[in-house]
Amino acid sequence: MQKRLLIVSNRLPISIEKNNEGYSFRQSSGGLISAVGAYLKGQGAKVFSEKLWAGVPDCGEDIWGLASLNHTGADYDFLPVFTSTGDYEDYYNGFSNSVLWPLFHYFPSLADYRPDFFEAYQRVNQQFAEKLSQVIHEGDTVWIHDYHLMMLPGLLRKKIPGITIAFFLHIPFPSAELFRVIPRAWQKALLEGMLGADLIGFHTAEYVSHFLKSLQLSIGLEHEGEYIAHQHREIKADAFPVSIDFSLFNSAHRSKEVSAAKDKYLAIKGDKKMIFSVDRLDYTKGIFNRLRAFEHFLTTNPAYIGKIVFIMVVVPSRHSIFQYSERKKKIDEFIGRLNSTMGTISWQPVIYQYDHLGFHDLLGLYMACDVALVTPLRDGMNLVAKEFVASRNDKMGVLILSEMAGAAFELTESLLINPNDVLEMAEMLCVALEMDPVEQGQRLSVMRERIERYDVNAWALDFFTQLSRIKERQKKFD
Ligand code: UDP
Ligand code: G6P
Repeated sequence: MQKRLLIVSNRLPISIEKNNEGYSFRQSSGGLISAVGAYLKGQGAKVFSEKLWAGVPDCGEDIWGLASLNHTGADYDFLPVFTSTGDYEDYYNGFSNSVLWPLFHYFPSLADYRPDFFEAYQRVNQQFAEKLSQVIHEGDTVWIHDYHLMMLPGLLRKKIPGITIAFFLHIPFPSAELFRVIPRAWQKALLEGMLGADLIGFHTAEYVSHFLKSLQLSIGLEHEGEYIAHQHREIKADAFPVSIDFSLFNSAHRSKEVSAAKDKYLAIKGDKKMIFSVDRLDYTKGIFNRLRAFEHFLTTNPAYIGKIVFIMVVVPSRHSIFQYSERKKKIDEFIGRLNSTMGTISWQPVIYQYDHLGFHDLLGLYMACDVALVTPLRDGMNLVAKEFVASRNDKMGVLILSEMAGAAFELTESLLINPNDVLEMAEMLCVALEMDPVEQGQRLSVMRERIERYDVNAWALDFFTQLSRIKERQKKFD
């Protein structure tokens, strides 16, 4: 049995909420938490004798201390990393989500290169390194996740040179041309930070090649295939498309709660067709173009008036950043206008919920809809697309998917669209709604087999196998 696994991410997998009886927990939002959380729950993670998840709690130290964490149901421990409010603001809302997130998702004009953001980013990464170095033992494996902590592998390596460190980026790595838009010293700090890891994982081969090209362009570091020699160590960069717990989604139809939720949504649907979408409120998700496409579809296909409903769930996210909060207002206005101009007393075209969905409702919607509409302008992977496919054990339903999502490389039997092409999206809605059930089944079957084969356990196994191989190669390199 291997020793300890330390998972490190900015967000912890649980969000703490205060209620009348005390505190309750719910799973935090986002693909990182879904994937890593699913892996830790499964058989694959049993190879580690002990697991610990480090991150910044979404509450203060006082509440963290009061909330009884042994009721979370997790079979791992938590390591909270507390930062000052000011540092967190500049590290999370600032450098992470107002520089790295927009730039890496190809929205360079939204990036705000403030030096104080970068300074806070360095400080918080350093704080993580200090906290971790207090608990790390020899033989531990440290798996660091995502763009908030790109400098952490390097900082930790300096403190404990022999430690095994892996890093996984859950968002796209942009083309080298875009990466070099960042001030030069920051490029160097980010790349050298990542190079502190032994294995650096990305969702797609394209992101790997962008990263390798950035090493050449930004810091003049060459590579041989996927191997990089840096400061007397060999490091590997490779693609590992993140996945889901296929069997959980595939067997969800057997759950009473999911069936009840599905029936609830089927009652809303009645004899109409139903389109479903769910994403965090984020400008990368293409929510506006999706609404525009739906409006265009209704205008050009009047036969569907009164005979279709679009259930759109938008999950609150990063609302203290202006680009997010202003979008909320615009979405509300758009839907209000569309419903009032196109709807009737007995028919509302868009049913909109601005809230987080629990597992049963999410599954009920995946299973009740005719079409899932996943149209990000840019997305590292997009797990919603995979979850929808896996949940359709009945082999019915159509996925419309943006070719700008990492998932499009694997889900090639979906109806692929360009998310900037509103007219194409509207046409594809027609194709989806009129697709014959045999074709729906054929397309879904191929995608379902692919996800089943490379589920979240296969993803993690592949990752850890590559990690052991690179550690072996490093011994020869020494
Ligand atoms: N999710 C959820 N409840 C919601 C909306 C989303 O549990 O109301 C989960 C969803 O099942 C998926 C993840 O959040 O696993 C979203 O991941 P994705 O990769 O699609 O997008 P991200 O939010 O990470 O950009
Ligand atoms: C994406 C990121 C994750 C992040 C999630 C939710 O999936 O890759 O790192 O946790 O969005 O965003 P939030 O800012 O709420 O953590």
